[in-house]
Amino acid sequence: MQPNSAILSAEGLTRIFGSGKKKVVAVDHVDFDIKFKEIVSLVGQSGSGKTTIGRMLLNLLKPSEGKIKFIGRNIKEFAKGKARLEYWKKVQGVFQDPFSSFNQFFSIKRNLRRTFRLMEQKMSAEQKDALIKQSLELVNVDPDDVMDKFPFELSGGQRQRIMLARIFLIKPKVLIADEPTSMIDATLRSGILRLLMKLRDAEEMTILFITHDMGLAYYVSDRIFVMHEGKIVEEGDAEEIVFHPSHPYTKKLISDVPVLNKEWL
Ligand SMILES: Nc1ncnc2c1ncn2[C@@H]1O[C@H](COP(=O)(O)OP(=O)(O)OP(=O)(O)O)[C@@H](O)[C@H]1O
Ligand SMILES: [Mg+2]
Repeated sequence: MQPNSAILSAEGLTRIFGSGKKKVVAVDHVDFDIKFKEIVSLVGQSGSGKTTIGRMLLNLLKPSEGKIKFIGRNIKEFAKGKARLEYWKKVQGVFQDPFSSFNQFFSIKRNLRRTFRLMEQKMSAEQKDALIKQSLELVNVDPDDVMDKFPFELSGGQRQRIMLARIFLIKPKVLIADEPTSMIDATLRSGILRLLMKLRDAEEMTILFITHDMGLAYYVSDRIFVMHEGKIVEEGDAEEIVFHPSHPYTKKLISDVPVLNKEWL
């Protein structure tokens, strides 16, 4: 793919929950392009619709209106069965709530072994375990400590790091990372974010980074989409958005960031 071509795009993307008095327009006619090898942040306050967009991009939730294209094809084509598995090989998510990605009744080892179902290559159990170990070490988790534990026996931050380890195993084309480091303390967070940024170069990965934190968005991304009440109210290069915001809501988000300094990473 060429660097400037759209890998994921949304047209008139809308999601409504409930009906009547309880109706919530979570995402309201949103259009965007995410380009190959780009890191884009989707920033907005709680309830603005960020996760809902992420879930639709992952084919976990159907749009009420509008469409999403992956390399030019409507992702409706990949909504079920084998096609959906194929899609998940290429477009993977890391979630805000790391519990949702694990089978509670399986050990971490068994949970991670299951990711190999998404992969083409045939590997022996030893080869799989060696790769699992390697990817856990990348995210600063001691394999000997966690492999035989169950998800509920780990901290939120450990679970989040293990979810990221899955990404190093699967190496998708696109990663939808929804607050992927919200439970990881600051000392480890920057290392993990740097690792994600490296994936873009080493694996040609495209990343949509979802966060409420404009500071984090600035550190990691090329472009920023600002979301407010279901709409993208402003988008542009990260520098432009942070230093020359035009929408009042963007200005407010920026005024809430204590220090903006790229040296932080
Ligand atoms: N399954 C659902 N059923 C009903 N309403 C929902 C559902 N999922 C989300 N919503 C509503 O849609 C709106 C957007 O929610 P969403 O989770 O996308 O926000 P968000 O930007 O990710 O917020 P946060 O930063 O808190 O994670 C909210 O008003 C939420 O209550
Ligand atoms: Mg969310």
